Amino acid sequence: MDEGLDPRAETDDLSHTKIMLERLAVSWPRRAYVKKQELEPFFETGKEDFLESLLPFRDMPQYQSCSPEMKSRVLSCGWLMYNAKTVQIETEIVNPTCLDILGGTMPGLRSDDAQMAVCETMVDEVYHVHLVEQASRLTRGRRGLGDLVIPQFNLVSHMRERQQRADEPWQGRMIQFATAVVSEIFISDYLHLLSESQEIQSFNRMTVAAHRHDEMVHSPLFMSLAQLFSHELTEGQRAAFADVLSEPVVWFADRELDVWLSMLRQIGFPKADEMIRECRSAGAADLTSLNYSQIVSLAQEIGLLESAAARDSFARQGLIA
Ligand SMILES: [Fe+2]
Ligand SMILES: [Fe+2]
Repeated sequence: MDEGLDPRAETDDLSHTKIMLERLAVSWPRRAYVKKQELEPFFETGKEDFLESLLPFRDMPQYQSCSPEMKSRVLSCGWLMYNAKTVQIETEIVNPTCLDILGGTMPGLRSDDAQMAVCETMVDEVYHVHLVEQASRLTRGRRGLGDLVIPQFNLVSHMRERQQRADEPWQGRMIQFATAVVSEIFISDYLHLLSESQEIQSFNRMTVAAHRHDEMVHSPLFMSLAQLFSHELTEGQRAAFADVLSEPVVWFADRELDVWLSMLRQIGFPKADEMIRECRSAGAADLTSLNYSQIVSLAQEIGLLESAAARDSFARQGLIA
């Protein structure tokens, strides 16, 4: 128990967290999208795949001056990229962390309720991969983009680089867990960007809305897991967790300009290199696109911001003053 904390308040907080986790785990069979009727793919002529407002280069003259056909192709790439980022989050970040938790290597997360909720989450995430890949196959087929290759996202490569610098295996697992917690908190907002849009293909919107239906629960679930995990850490481990939790926020906010450049080159976009080079001057990440207050609140609730080093780390990433 840390000095300065009211022991009863801390116990109360954790009992609330445990009750919430149990409720989320027990309600899964009634709630999960995997238990519902599957969407039938369909395509509407005359509707684009993605929103122009989400393109990082929408105001650049190179984009503004290209043909309507090329703009439409870029929007299809935007949709495929959005889906590919979702799939990489599920397969490279969230499910590997779930496997660590099931393997019993994550402190505080060995209770029956935690294990059940994590098993259910893995089923959800694999189903999301199925939903999203189904939607991407439809787009690739209808738009003639079957050969488009989408490289690894910076969100994943930054996490891997950080893991490679870790001295101990537990640190690598902690970095993965922190990235999963941050991704699961942000993914609902990320999906909300498209889940209610009437402008894009209806099947695209419905796919994103179905995914978001599950992710609205994953967000509080992962916040609960982070609280239980943090409570069981030694002082040194808590300091390491405090240090790493802020970093995935910036990784998630990355504008992924390298992925864009690769796709634009593949579809023969004129002056792709010049446009992306000019975009880079606005910075690699766009923190204004994210509401990261939940991450700061989480860090506060679990007492991570009590240490000066942790506050420095959050300030360094631009998350607190
Ligand atoms: Fe998901
Ligand atoms: Fe999720």
